[in-house]
Formats: sequence, C-alpha cells, structure tokens
Amino acid sequence: MAEPVQTPQASFPPRIFSGIQPSGGLTLGNYLGALKRFVEKQEEGIETIYCMVDMHAITVWQDPEKLRQQTREGAAAFIAAGIDPARSILFNQSQVTAHVELGWIFNCIARMGWMSRMTQFKDKAGKNSENVSLGLFAYPSLMAADILTYKATHVPVGEDQKQHLELCRDIAIKFNNDYGVNFFPVVEPVIEGAATRVMSLRDGTKKMSKSDPSDQSRINLTDDADTIAKKIRKAKTDPEPLPDTLDGLKDRPEARNLVNIYAALAGHTPEQVICDYAGAQFGTFKPALADLAVAKLEPITLEMNRLMQDPAEIDRILGEGAARADAIARPIVDQVYDIIGMIRSRR
Ligand code: AMP
Ligand code: TRP
Repeated sequence: MAEPVQTPQASFPPRIFSGIQPSGGLTLGNYLGALKRFVEKQEEGIETIYCMVDMHAITVWQDPEKLRQQTREGAAAFIAAGIDPARSILFNQSQVTAHVELGWIFNCIARMGWMSRMTQFKDKAGKNSENVSLGLFAYPSLMAADILTYKATHVPVGEDQKQHLELCRDIAIKFNNDYGVNFFPVVEPVIEGAATRVMSLRDGTKKMSKSDPSDQSRINLTDDADTIAKKIRKAKTDPEPLPDTLDGLKDRPEARNLVNIYAALAGHTPEQVICDYAGAQFGTFKPALADLAVAKLEPITLEMNRLMQDPAEIDRILGEGAARADAIARPIVDQVYDIIGMIRSRR
C-alpha cells in the first residue's frame, strides 16, 4: 500500500449529484426532501446530475414491467417538478455502466465493518438478514460510486441518507490514501430545509415511505386533489391546539410533522407557521394544509400525467441524459483503472 498522503482537498469544481430509486411511486417525502431541493440547486446555476437509480431498486425484487413504468414516472416527476433536461443531466443509472464498474472497485475498498454499521441495511433486512440479497448489503458502496464517478462535490438528500454519505466520504478518503492520490473529492451532504425527514401521516415516529404497506400513511405524487385532502384530514394528530412556540411541539411528533410539511410547502420556516397558527385547532390547520398541498402538488401531478402519455419521449430524454452522463463518467473510471493497475489495451 502506498504511503498515506496528507494533501489537502484539491479544489474540485462544484458539481451536484443525487438519485432516487424507482422502487415505487414517489411520495411527498421524496418531493420535499429531494426533488424540490434538486430544482433549487439547478436554479442556483450549479452543474446538476440527477439519476433514477434502477440498479439500486433491484436490491429487492422488482416486477420488470413495473420497474420500467416507475422509472419513467420518476423521470416525469423530476421534469414536472422543474428539472429542465437541457440544463440538468437526467438519466437512469443502468444506461451508464461506469456506476457498476466503480461500484465493484468500491466493494474492494469498503470494509465489512463499515457496511455492517449501516442502519438502513439493518432496518430493511430486519430479522431476515440471511435471506436478503447481497446487493442490499453492498447498496451504499454502489451509491458512493454513483456520486464519485462524476467527482460530485455536493449531494442533496433527505436526512435518512446521511450515514450513506459518510460512508461515501470514507471510501473516497481510503481510495485516495491506498493509492497515494488525491483523486476523489470528499463529498458534502446537503441536508437543508424544513422537511429533511417527512414522517408518516399515521405514525409521527416513522418516515413517510413509498414502501409502507398503508397508502394512508403517505401522499403520493400521483394522488388527485381529493385524495390528498382526505389523507391530510385523516392524518393522525392529538387533541391539543397548536402551541405558540416550536418548543411546544417537542413531544408531539404528528403535529410537528404537519407543521414542517406546511413550512416546506409554503417556503416558510416552521417558526413562521407556528406564529401564524398559534392556538389553532387541527380543524382549522388541516384544511389550510390540505389547500396548500393541493395548490403546490396538483400542477406537478397534472404535468406528470401529461408527460406519461408519451413514454417514448421520456425514454429519449433519459437516453440523451445517459450519453451526457457517460461522457463525464467514462474518462474518470478509465483513470481509476489506470490508478489501480488494470491493463487497458482493448481496441
Ligand atoms: P428513495 O425514495 O429512498 O430513493 O429516496 C430518494 C430521496 O428522497 C433521498 O434523498 C431521500 O433522503 C429522500 N426521502 C425519501 N423519503 C423521505 C422522507 N420521508 N422525508 C424526506 N426525504 C425523503
Ligand atoms: N440511497 C438513496 C435513497 O434511497 C438513493 C441513491 C442512490 C442516491 N444513489 C445515490 C442518493 C447517490 C444520492 C446520491 O434515498
């Protein structure tokens, strides 16, 4: 092994990468924690690369036709939410093979101990850990490859991905040290805003998730206005009115969740929302939240539905994005092969 190098982080040009799994329909959690933030980054004028991570989705079994459908639907959601495929790169992971190539190399960098500490794996595998796929265990190492095959420097995600990004930093540092190079950036997680962890509408201690068996627990980006309003009206709460300080929400996870959702949708801080609704009953707050949610989500849903009428156009956009992504990723992975000692003589 080469001597560890203590070079400071070379200045890597800022580049954003993030991904969403097409393992189900997208939820309000994906929208507030991820999509909405992705659009903001695009508007800041930074180079942005966004990916439907279909290779990650198959770490648990997916019906092939549904997987294709959900990948297109996810891409439609990106565009409907404001991602412009001309300004951002938008593609599906499996069309750029650099991801899995670097993923394998990172499997040889990451340590079993690091991977074993991943709480998402432990949660997903549960008591069934003998029976889950090897891919589910290796998942965070492929995620590191997604990011580093573009030398991305900033990764906007929801709170639940923080530990995976710490692993990505560890992999970059170990690769750089093992080979005596300063090749990969140490990425910065970008976890910002009022809704970095949107909770289930049925249980304020559980994350809102596309894989929750209860459809009432989440708002799907494909829900119509009536369904959204109904789900919010029926959301679990407590009998108390809203407090006049944020502190008053401390032991009220369901109430806090609805306040955070309101804040994120309105583009306000939770403090502002509490200020506006201090003392309000849920009978008042819930309809206001439902109206706001419908006003913000309905245009996105309608545009998604319109885009989904033309799947060939979505596939074309993903293909074009993949070609642009490949042009960045390929030379980086080729340099990795050179660094680690692979012969590259194929013509
Ligand atoms: P996934 O659906 O697991 O592929 O997640 C895609 C992105 O959405 C990631 O950045 C997640 O952190 C984010 N995300 C998923 N669920 C939530 C949630 N309930 N609240 C906030 N962000 C979320
Ligand atoms: N693991 C992420 C999630 O489930 C999805 C993902 C895969 C991702 N690769 C990524 C997110 C790279 C950010 C960057 O939410």
